[in-house]
Amino acid sequence: MTDHILVERPEAHPGVLVLRFNRPEKKNAITQAMYQRLTAGLAEGEADDTVRAIAFLGTEGCFSAGNDMADFLAFAMAGAVGEPAAFSFLKALAGASKPLVSGVDGLAIGIGTTLHMHCDLTIASDRSLFKTPFVDLALVPEAGSSLLAPLVMGHQRAFALLAAGEGFSAQEAREAGLIWKVVPAADVEAETLKLAASLAAKPPQALKISRDLVRGDRQALLARMDEELAHFVDRLKSKEARAAFEAFMRR
Ligand code: COA
Repeated sequence: MTDHILVERPEAHPGVLVLRFNRPEKKNAITQAMYQRLTAGLAEGEADDTVRAIAFLGTEGCFSAGNDMADFLAFAMAGAVGEPAAFSFLKALAGASKPLVSGVDGLAIGIGTTLHMHCDLTIASDRSLFKTPFVDLALVPEAGSSLLAPLVMGHQRAFALLAAGEGFSAQEAREAGLIWKVVPAADVEAETLKLAASLAAKPPQALKISRDLVRGDRQALLARMDEELAHFVDRLKSKEARAAFEAFMRR
């Protein structure tokens, strides 16, 4: 089992399960094994009644640089691509029944940004950067972000983020409604865990119903994720994507 994802139960924050990206030497880039561990971690949280909130955290200065580029290249070379482990994770994320919070310090790239669209409250440090260079990699948006982002921030900012690949500072992400709060880097972890614990202490059924109402139509979200997946897998196999991955690997 990979130790690049840590599943933690912080004693000081009862009811909280933490899923932590822990591959700092590769900027927390996410491999297939890490997606599988994330999916299993979410399932563990779902199945355990003592878990009342789930928190995503990274390491100092980096939440995640997104999908592992070597894995992208391997998919591109393989020709036939099944459903990548990333999509099983994303579907589990979209289907989560418990409150999700996230804490970002530093880089949040690709799925490191779109993941937060499934979180209910995100805290980021003032040095964070949100960016999704999908099109520059000859790919398309994933995680239902093509549906969620325009709802949250309107067409122009969603297009800037998802299609033009513009980076958003923490302040810009907050103004766009992508995240909830900006705090100093030293406070991200403590604030995120405090927030998760406060949700964990609330009446769970009332919170679940409220969350479901606020999140809205999951079927539409899952249908959009399937639509994105079909395009994404097709683009992954394209010559232009392969060239982009090879260029990154050659740097
Ligand atoms: N996949 C695999 N490895 C990655 C990675 C990724 N997505 N992002 C970073 N790394 C690796 C680098 O290859 C490098 O490994 P090395 O030390 O063995 O050479 C290490 O992490 C440090 O990255 P580096 O590029 O030196 O750090 P940086 O601070 O100069 O730049 C990024 C950080 C995130 C801006 C840059 O690495 C990058 O653009 N990564 C790709 C992000 C991306 O496009 N993700 C996919 C989104 S869909």
